[in-house]
Amino acid sequence: MKALMISRDSLLHAEIAAQGSARMPAVQLVASRNGLRDAVERQLPESPELVIFDASDVEPGEADLVERLGKTYPSASFMLLTREPQQDLLIRAMRAGMREVLQLPLVHKAFHESMDRIEVAAGVSQMRDGKVLAFISCKGGSGATFLSTNFGYALAALADKKVLLIDLHGQFGDATLYVSDQKPAMTLSDICGQISRMDGSFLDSCLVHVASNFGVLAAADDPNHLVDMKPEHMDAILRVARQHYDYIVLDVGRQIDAISLRALDQADAIYPVLQLALPDIRDGRRLLDIFRSLGYPSERTRLIVNRYEKGGKLRLMDLEQALGAEVMHTVPNDYMSATDSVNQGIPVLQLSRSSAVARSLADLVELVTARRVSESKGLFDRLFGRTDND
Ligand SMILES: Nc1ncnc2c1ncn2[C@@H]1O[C@H](COP(=O)(O)OP(=O)(O)OP(=O)(O)O)[C@@H](O)[C@H]1O
Ligand SMILES: [Mg+2]
Repeated sequence: MKALMISRDSLLHAEIAAQGSARMPAVQLVASRNGLRDAVERQLPESPELVIFDASDVEPGEADLVERLGKTYPSASFMLLTREPQQDLLIRAMRAGMREVLQLPLVHKAFHESMDRIEVAAGVSQMRDGKVLAFISCKGGSGATFLSTNFGYALAALADKKVLLIDLHGQFGDATLYVSDQKPAMTLSDICGQISRMDGSFLDSCLVHVASNFGVLAAADDPNHLVDMKPEHMDAILRVARQHYDYIVLDVGRQIDAISLRALDQADAIYPVLQLALPDIRDGRRLLDIFRSLGYPSERTRLIVNRYEKGGKLRLMDLEQALGAEVMHTVPNDYMSATDSVNQGIPVLQLSRSSAVARSLADLVELVTARRVSESKGLFDRLFGRTDND
């Protein structure tokens, strides 16, 4: 957004310029004025989209100029900064349509939250209302990491959704390696250590970008517990994530801790991943009992059976009966495609897009996004490269 900055304070100017340029889209300070009178008297030839107005040193006699400033740039959004609350000035500013008022010294988080609101109101960006989907393995090695990472990629690639995957493995999380060869520069524990900086652009800058609309936040990497990770940190991360992503996929791992529990509490859907075998069913039962005792509504929990092979001794029906939960989806056993993908760190949809497991992930994308039949045809066509003439 192109912005006019009105302030005599050069340090504040530099601070706003730095914070603004880090945003996506960036806030560019295209012009500056040395106070309210200067701004009103020297009108810019082209209206800025945003006026950032430091009202700290407005003289009492100048307050009526605020209304003139509003009329000078009727289409602009306004952000008012003030060191001390000045009642009269604030009332005039509100009348002039200035809704965003921030206290100085500048709190960066408040600045970015205010910018988020301004951008939404100006139609520059949309606040999303992301859904949180948690994958959790009932037994070690059930395939929760493989499915969550590859499902996240499929959701971004096939349904054009903006997707964030958060690796919640307390230890030895390796979700990034399943779909990327990049080394994460920041992890969940780093974010918790700097939680006051949390906003959409900070979160985005901490991700491994697998695709332009799919990013992965690597698992906490803090063996010496230098960072005091708190459940409240998870609240802040998910609140911002919901605003900026369509889907937040959680790879919960097997060990539930205070952090992952807080994330599960907020999940819109929980997908326990298990294989059709007795040990998995036993562990699945324990997990579902925990969810029930936590008061999670049963319709929020839907099973995914991984490495499914038809004709085995155990049937899906037996599993549903034993666990008292519905199987939402089955993913076939596809050893070659899964192993190749995991070993190379390339999403299976990219590496072997016509494989059984890739098709199954596409089905899961359809199920979750509940796309209409006509749309879903497009989805399959994109996946398998078909055209209308085929
Ligand atoms: N549908 C599938 N067909 C064949 N192999 C699979 C399938 N899904 C996963 N695998 C394989 O199973 C292995 C274990 O999967 P994954 O690491 O995702 O399990 P997990 O549930 O995350 O385990 P952990 O409890 O250690 O976090 C992977 O190496 C992957 O290759
Ligand atoms: Mg895992």
